[in-house]
Amino acid sequence: MLMSDNHRPMPEGAVLQEESPVFEPSSGRGRRHGTSRSEPFDRWFRYPAGFASDYASLLLQQLQLPTAGLVVDPFTGSGVAGTAARRAGHAFYGVEAHPLIAELAALKLDRTSEDPNGLLATARELTLQVITTRADIDISGEADLTLRSFDPETLAILVSLRDLIREMQAHEWHLHLKWALLATLRDVASVRVGWPYQRPGSQRQPTFADPLTRFLQRIGWMVEDMREFEANYSSSPACRVRQGDSREAMNWSELGHGTAHGCVTSPPYLNNFDYADATRLELYFWGDVTSWSQMCAEVRSDMLTATTQQSSVGAASDARTLLQTYGTVGTEVSEIADRLQKERGNRSRGKEYDRVVPDYFVAIARIMENLSTVLASGAPAVLLVGDSAPYGVYVDTPGLIAKLAKCQGFTLEEDVILRHRGQRWASNATRHNVQLAERLVLLRRD
Ligand SMILES: C[S@@+](CC[C@H](N)C(=O)[O-])C[C@H]1O[C@@H](n2cnc3c(N)ncnc32)[C@H](O)[C@@H]1O
Repeated sequence: MLMSDNHRPMPEGAVLQEESPVFEPSSGRGRRHGTSRSEPFDRWFRYPAGFASDYASLLLQQLQLPTAGLVVDPFTGSGVAGTAARRAGHAFYGVEAHPLIAELAALKLDRTSEDPNGLLATARELTLQVITTRADIDISGEADLTLRSFDPETLAILVSLRDLIREMQAHEWHLHLKWALLATLRDVASVRVGWPYQRPGSQRQPTFADPLTRFLQRIGWMVEDMREFEANYSSSPACRVRQGDSREAMNWSELGHGTAHGCVTSPPYLNNFDYADATRLELYFWGDVTSWSQMCAEVRSDMLTATTQQSSVGAASDARTLLQTYGTVGTEVSEIADRLQKERGNRSRGKEYDRVVPDYFVAIARIMENLSTVLASGAPAVLLVGDSAPYGVYVDTPGLIAKLAKCQGFTLEEDVILRHRGQRWASNATRHNVQLAERLVLLRRD
């Protein structure tokens, strides 16, 4: 086991960022978290799970991919790797399971031939209409979460604007208007709706008082970003996002074998973070879902299992069987699941981490298999992922992913600690004492 600079033991094989020849930290970038509030396109909506935009750019720079090479991301999220790839002159192909977030990523990467001035004019017209109609708006039928998140006057404005935009489905700026409004919600909420989870029981002062001004400001950013893009990057190669499950080979079928030049991605961590729940406010407000069960069925359906809310006995048992095909790493994952099952048994209402872990790693193995098909020989794949320790059982997620990738034709080149997080973890069973960390794993297609 390596020791870090301040004498914290580190997971086997991992090195500190300072020691990495490829991902040197001298720029100071890469340590900020979450989607940028200021970067063009990424500022359109702050997805809680997002990469730091400048870090995605830094990674791409250091990978030294060929000019106009194709970058892929099997966990596209809001498309931050995509916007960085496009800025660097690369083509991009991403797959994202969350339908609403896939729509956002596709919108950011879409190239419209329309003049963005038309967007500004349409948005202004809409706000004028809202000023005259908001008094007649009935908000009583809104979802409970929506009703609790805004003061009634603000909500009447938001609902009035939403209803107008919803009627414009065929309009060329429909999705831009929709996303400027969705991104305004958390800005003007009067309860704690900071990421990741909404807490409608906890009041706060809205960050912005006037929803229409903020909506227009967001529209202004979109116009600015699209204009700047057209002026400087108009000849950049095609970028595309597909909504779906990265495990499914058909979601990669439009790329030829060995046609991608690199992958930059961040898979879900095994930390029980629920991507569907994190966007509940937007989903309920827009009317995409009206109940928790609908959200689970429709929003989570393509996602891999990374939370105990998603786990099931059947899937876990199938995954246990499949793990046997992955040799020693399969056994390692099964042993972790056994330990987690024992820990659950020691608790009166323990969480089913033991069912999440096998399913999660089998899903990752399938995705690595798809990546190995589309990536060219020698292409790099960079994964940003954290480890975890549910019930004190250490799960070296980045290390296990690297071992599974080896079964799919990848070689591990680097395993770098980007930042330490959370509690130091200690287990009596192994007497290891490891600080949880976010790590960057660099794999290379054989
Ligand atoms: C850590 S986030 C990635 C965020 C992204 N890097 C960004 O900048 O926005 C992981 C993403 O993987 C998505 N996801 C989970 N399971 C998936 C699957 N089977 N196929 C495709 N995407 C999936 C989640 O919905 C989530 O948006």
